[in-house]
Amino acid sequence: MSDASKLKILITGGGGMLAHALAQTFYAFGVDHKLMSRAELDITKIDDILKVLDAEKPTHLINCAAYTKVDQAEKEPGQAVEINGKSVGNLADACKRRNIKLVHYSTDYVFADGDRTPRKIDDPLRPKGAYGVSKLLGERMIAEINPPGWILIRTAWLYGPNGPNFVQTMLNAARAGKPLKVIQDQTGSPTYTFDLASATLELIRANASGTFHLTNSGETNWFEFTRAIMDEFGITPTSLTPITSADWQTIKPDSAARPSYSVLDLSDYTRATGFKMPDWRDGLKRYHARIDSVAASVSIPVSSPEASADSQTSRPASRKRR
Ligand SMILES: NC(=O)c1ccc[n+]([C@@H]2O[C@H](COP(=O)([O-])OP(=O)(O)OC[C@H]3O[C@@H](n4cnc5c(N)ncnc54)[C@H](OP(=O)(O)O)[C@@H]3O)[C@@H](O)[C@H]2O)c1
Repeated sequence: MSDASKLKILITGGGGMLAHALAQTFYAFGVDHKLMSRAELDITKIDDILKVLDAEKPTHLINCAAYTKVDQAEKEPGQAVEINGKSVGNLADACKRRNIKLVHYSTDYVFADGDRTPRKIDDPLRPKGAYGVSKLLGERMIAEINPPGWILIRTAWLYGPNGPNFVQTMLNAARAGKPLKVIQDQTGSPTYTFDLASATLELIRANASGTFHLTNSGETNWFEFTRAIMDEFGITPTSLTPITSADWQTIKPDSAARPSYSVLDLSDYTRATGFKMPDWRDGLKRYHARIDSVAASVSIPVSSPEASADSQTSRPASRKRR
């Protein structure tokens, strides 16, 4: 078990949604950490990575930097590969040279479509789209370069403060009185970034190494998740209609194909740490509580629209990311 007081963690992609949750979690647990935004460290630049590692001398590098625009990746697969693949190789190489532990995130999108049983670590990998292909390349780079004590975490369906995310997009649309049409034939596990951040810390503290799956537990589909969001936030949308992935493809012909079943088997995490991931419904409740407490702490009257939101609602909802 690692002593938390001896950890020094550098987080790349510091402007993103998961990086925010990691920083807040480390702060709460008194773990020494530093966020580096894209402007401070661009992971495509190997020399800059080494300079930063030499200056900061972290024990762990957590990479949250990623090309996350799933649909856009179909049009610019080269950029996705550059950031999610080759640059992850740069990070792995730099960590190996400086003996730093690398923690990196991948996605359920690397898996081949198959039966409806939770995906195990070694299940067949066959991504459907350019984003998944680029993330799989990142996974392979880490395994091949093999920096000491690396941790690769596959996750899915993330939402949390400080990023455009599905929950906020649905809430914004419902509050604006828009009719909601939501896919019913894709199943997965919605995952609160703060639960993923805490579980990442547990893996680090347990000195775990290798590939792990981390999502909230339980499963649902996007339509049922939307119903749960509306119930949790006490909103009655103008209309909420289930549609199929094929319907969605007609509405948004440029969207990338997504897996129909994305539930991940979490047992390796429990074996490594002794902990179980909280249920997704519980994560949603705590997300609600957190954004309410942020809203309550700003000095705007509670009845104004701004007061019901934190920073993520000011970012464009159309930037669907993963
Ligand atoms: N969100 C999901 O549902 C989901 C699901 C499965 C897996 N994941 C994985 O989880 C990780 C975290 O995702 P997230 O949702 O927190 O992503 P995010 O909010 O989009 O954050 C990614 C961050 O990386 C930065 N970035 C992009 N290119 C960079 C570069 N070359 N150098 C440095 N920084 C760069 C981005 O900066 P800019 O904003 O300036 O581009 C952004 O701040 C990613 O590896 C993602 O693939 C996410």
